[in-house]
Amino acid sequence: MSNLVKQGLALRDAVPQEEQETFAKIVISTPLSIIVPTFRECENIPRLIERVRALKEAHDISLELIFMDDQSRDGSVEVVAATGLDWVRILERDGERGLSPAVIDGFRLARNPVLVCMDCDLSHPPEKIPQLILALSSGQQFVIGSRYVPGGSTDDDWGFLRWLNSRIATLMARPLTSARDPMSGFFALRRADFEKARELNPVGYKIGLELIVKCGFENVAEVPIHFADRVYGESKLTLKEQLKYLQHIRRLYIHEFGNAMHFLQFLVVGASGTAVNLLVLSAILLTGLPEAVSLAGGIAVSLVTNFLLNRRFTFSYARDRNPWKQFAGFVGASAVGLAVNYGVALYLVSAVLPERPTSVYFAALAGVASGMLFNFLGNRYLVFRKRYIRR
Ligand code: GDD
Ligand code: MN
Repeated sequence: MSNLVKQGLALRDAVPQEEQETFAKIVISTPLSIIVPTFRECENIPRLIERVRALKEAHDISLELIFMDDQSRDGSVEVVAATGLDWVRILERDGERGLSPAVIDGFRLARNPVLVCMDCDLSHPPEKIPQLILALSSGQQFVIGSRYVPGGSTDDDWGFLRWLNSRIATLMARPLTSARDPMSGFFALRRADFEKARELNPVGYKIGLELIVKCGFENVAEVPIHFADRVYGESKLTLKEQLKYLQHIRRLYIHEFGNAMHFLQFLVVGASGTAVNLLVLSAILLTGLPEAVSLAGGIAVSLVTNFLLNRRFTFSYARDRNPWKQFAGFVGASAVGLAVNYGVALYLVSAVLPERPTSVYFAALAGVASGMLFNFLGNRYLVFRKRYIRR
């Protein structure tokens, strides 16, 4: 069992269920800002306000509730105005529409020291907020309302595909955090910690995961919740948004694992280049051209595809620079890599390894490995080097 789960369990068990509410009452002495991103949620807004109001009154919590709306124009603004509650606001954003940027804008506008983020569609139970705050005040930095810790659940009619989809996405985030449900859009943190976040890049839906990684949170706790299916309105999670998750997770990996991640992509591109090489080779051979030409063709085409893929993915931060110069550099680095490959192999087989028939193969493999490493370093630090802006 991971430490985080243990922590989550310990937290849950530390205080018996019935006492937790009284406990929460004492704990929530700090004012909260609840941020809710909305897009066409006019049916859910009054229902959520009602549940938050009940919570606020039951525990005498000082809080503000901010809806961050993306020009829904479905009566959401009017619905909020009609409540006449001074602690509820709705803000019409302009600019790019999106769940994550809406949440970040909301956090920046929030006035209270503790921030809570939740969905508007009543999937997230506001009644659990006291427990999130309880965990926060017991030394945690980030507290998730979680479906995947013991006691957590989702509505039964989650089809197999939706479940699988959610599980795979969660698994992909495992190297970044050991939280069980880092995809959750229901969480709490301190505003002071949020303000320390560097380089927030709010792409897609997973704002919680983005915050855990970019704020470098180590103490993450999870409070079990029941995730209810939405009843009113529709989900905005399109396939396009799901694909954005892949982009997001790639960026987070690069942020966390830097060079290792660049190298991994470089290797994958290299492997794809080998496949391209062999395909082109056989295609040219089929036309009846001589082997010498076919071999050269395979190399030339794979050199170009490798370059394009590396420029697009491995070293995507350098895409704004002159591609011709980069291509020349890339070919140069490949040539150096080749020379290193040959030199290392020759040296090993003639001066280091014992005289055995297998030695030449070891030498060749070592040559390939060192050539590749040089090739990578040359590209990473010369051809596609990062530019730092001088002050
Ligand atoms: N401002 C704004 N702009 N709000 C948006 C946008 C947008 O472009 N898109 C969605 N929202 C709001 C919705 O109105 C809702 O309040 C909340 O964000 C979640 O949107 P849903 O469309 O209901 O998303 P979901 O249920 O598929 O996803 C939820 O669960 C996932 C885990 O299964 C979210 O909480 C995700 O963050 C979470 O990963
Ligand atoms: Mn939803």
